[in-house]
Amino acid sequence: MSTGTNKRRIAVIGGDGIGPEVCAEALKVVAAAGVDLATTAFDLGASRYQRDGSVLPDAVLEELRGYDAILLGAVGPPVGDTSVPPGTLERGLLLRLRFELDLYVNLRPFAGVPGSIAQGADFVVIRENTEGTYAGEGGFLRRGTPHEVATQGSVNTRMGVERCVRFAFELADRRPAHHLTLVHKTNVLTFAGDLWNRTVTEVSPEFPDVTWDYNHVDAACIYLVEQPRRYDVIVTDNLFGDILTDLAGAVSGGIGFAASANLNPARTGPSLFEPVHGAAHDIAGKGVANPLAAIHSAALMLDHLGESDAAGRILKALSEQSDTMTISTDPLSTTAVGDAIAERL
Ligand code: NAI
Ligand code: MG
Repeated sequence: MSTGTNKRRIAVIGGDGIGPEVCAEALKVVAAAGVDLATTAFDLGASRYQRDGSVLPDAVLEELRGYDAILLGAVGPPVGDTSVPPGTLERGLLLRLRFELDLYVNLRPFAGVPGSIAQGADFVVIRENTEGTYAGEGGFLRRGTPHEVATQGSVNTRMGVERCVRFAFELADRRPAHHLTLVHKTNVLTFAGDLWNRTVTEVSPEFPDVTWDYNHVDAACIYLVEQPRRYDVIVTDNLFGDILTDLAGAVSGGIGFAASANLNPARTGPSLFEPVHGAAHDIAGKGVANPLAAIHSAALMLDHLGESDAAGRILKALSEQSDTMTISTDPLSTTAVGDAIAERL
């Protein structure tokens, strides 16, 4: 139950396409779980950019720092719409929030829904969220000439890797299977891979109850399809984590189920919670978007805010609800699914 007197202040960035639709269901379910949040809507995303050219004004970023958490739907124009140049929202909004708010852990839980390839699997991917090839290191030489050079380096700091690895071990230590898998490509990316492997090796003695192993990222792609139940906690870098979690989402039932938490575990600012999927303009406004990913993301937010009882009840209702849903393409109703979960609470 909510503490009442100090209501958590949540910034809600509904965004574009189905973003506002799924956020509405997430907030409906939070209310049904008995948690009273003070929400403020922030108008950011493709439609805001198209209107006035703003992506993330500095003043808005400063304001966001004052919130307890951020709930984000999805941002982006319809695929093929060139009015928002590629990278504008990814680098200017999503990545900027991750870097500025130091959201160094991207936590993505997966539980295979009935009928999916990963049925019965239950694992969490911990993706490093502020470094690697996404850090923006690199540049052009002689751009636009036949002798053009583009470099995009992978930035891996001991501090950045270690805080992420430690988070992953702590999580594995709390889970029943107590197992961690490092995913990388140490045989080819011998510098970054060595740093990651050494860090895991050196941190592991602090967690004697956690067993750990290592998979090359290409092998992990095979295992995720052929033996997804072998995984408990996966820890990996930014780029591998981006790709692996799309695959994990696909084998677990589809993008409509995949939730994520962009965490600042040091709590020097708000963390951000969002479904993995995008704005899905192809189904926007039709009332058929699956809200489970957004609802699950909101449950992760409540857990982070210390409302673990409410979060646990939502997760239980979610899992009961997903057991009634299959990976079939039968159209569902966004509001009916939200109502059904609210009802179970
Ligand atoms: P998308 O995830 O929006 O859609 C891919 C496919 O999955 C579509 O067929 C869509 O209908 C379906 N889908 C997605 N979410 C669903 C849900 N909840 N229920 C049922 N079906 C769902 O990816 P796409 O089409 O590549 O991107 C559309 C826009 O969203 C682009 O502007 C892209 O940049 C943006 N985007 C934003 C993200 C974010 O805000 N974090 C993440 C991914 C894409
Ligand atoms: Mg992705």
